[in-house]
Amino acid sequence: MAAYARDLIAGCGLPLLEARMLLERALGVNRAWLIAHDDEPLPEAGVARFEDWAARRRDGEPMAYLLGEREFMGHLFHVSPAVLIPRPETELLVETALAHVREIPSPRLLDLGTGSGAIAVSLALARPDAQVDATDLSPEALAVAAGNARRLGARVALLEGSWYEALNESAAAPIYDVIVSNPPYIAAGDPHLSQGDLRHEPDMALTDHADGLQALRDIARGAPAWLKPGGALWMEHGWDQAGQVRDLLRAAGFRHVESRRDLAGIERISGGSL
Ligand SMILES: C[S@@+](CC[C@H](N)C(=O)[O-])C[C@H]1O[C@@H](n2cnc3c(N)ncnc32)[C@H](O)[C@@H]1O
Repeated sequence: MAAYARDLIAGCGLPLLEARMLLERALGVNRAWLIAHDDEPLPEAGVARFEDWAARRRDGEPMAYLLGEREFMGHLFHVSPAVLIPRPETELLVETALAHVREIPSPRLLDLGTGSGAIAVSLALARPDAQVDATDLSPEALAVAAGNARRLGARVALLEGSWYEALNESAAAPIYDVIVSNPPYIAAGDPHLSQGDLRHEPDMALTDHADGLQALRDIARGAPAWLKPGGALWMEHGWDQAGQVRDLLRAAGFRHVESRRDLAGIERISGGSL
């Protein structure tokens, strides 16, 4: 039976915007084409693809995984289920790191747990004179980050390993102006892990399998050995972790420790300098 755009969109049980985006992608057309061809039967293969995606979306699969992309800092990043979907609130981390190095020529920056490469690639594109290193424990995530860096034309060194162990140096050396990280910070067994988009995202991107602070603690403890004098560490964390993260930054030897709020008014990132 012939299928028409307006019937598919109205009858798929999804919000209008999501239905339109999936249909456009399934057919490989844009919004103008859909409007212009509103009364024409659609090709069967595209309709079948749309119906499969609409069913998966109704089951809760994130739009970003179905479309294979998500915008961050004005750039379009490819994403797969191997990486966390970049969140708008993480842009605060990028903006804060860029502010710290505004006056520093050719700064050296490190992004720990880079996932899709959203942070590292955005830093490199904003500061083409910077040397940006990015690490992840997941080779699958690093492959996604490498694809994004290549496609967007960003110069980023991608390194595999756990936090600072991924770095090439034979011993810790004070080489970075800023270290940033959005590490896994959800505690083991937190009920949010089995809700919404989080059900579909990689476990190792979300939880430290401990108290939610373990990765933040490890990164804070390791940072002073890698930062230049005056260098800064900024980390993203959970909505209720700011006080504890400030404590662990002070315990690691940081000064000028502070937290910053995201657009929702939540203390989203904390950092300090040496
Ligand atoms: C919350 S995601 C952040 C991804 C990306 N930076 C972003 O903000 O969209 C955390 C990332 O840390 C990585 N990760 C988890 N444990 C790690 C470890 N021990 N060493 C390095 N990376 C790790 C995960 O694979 C994941 O890509």
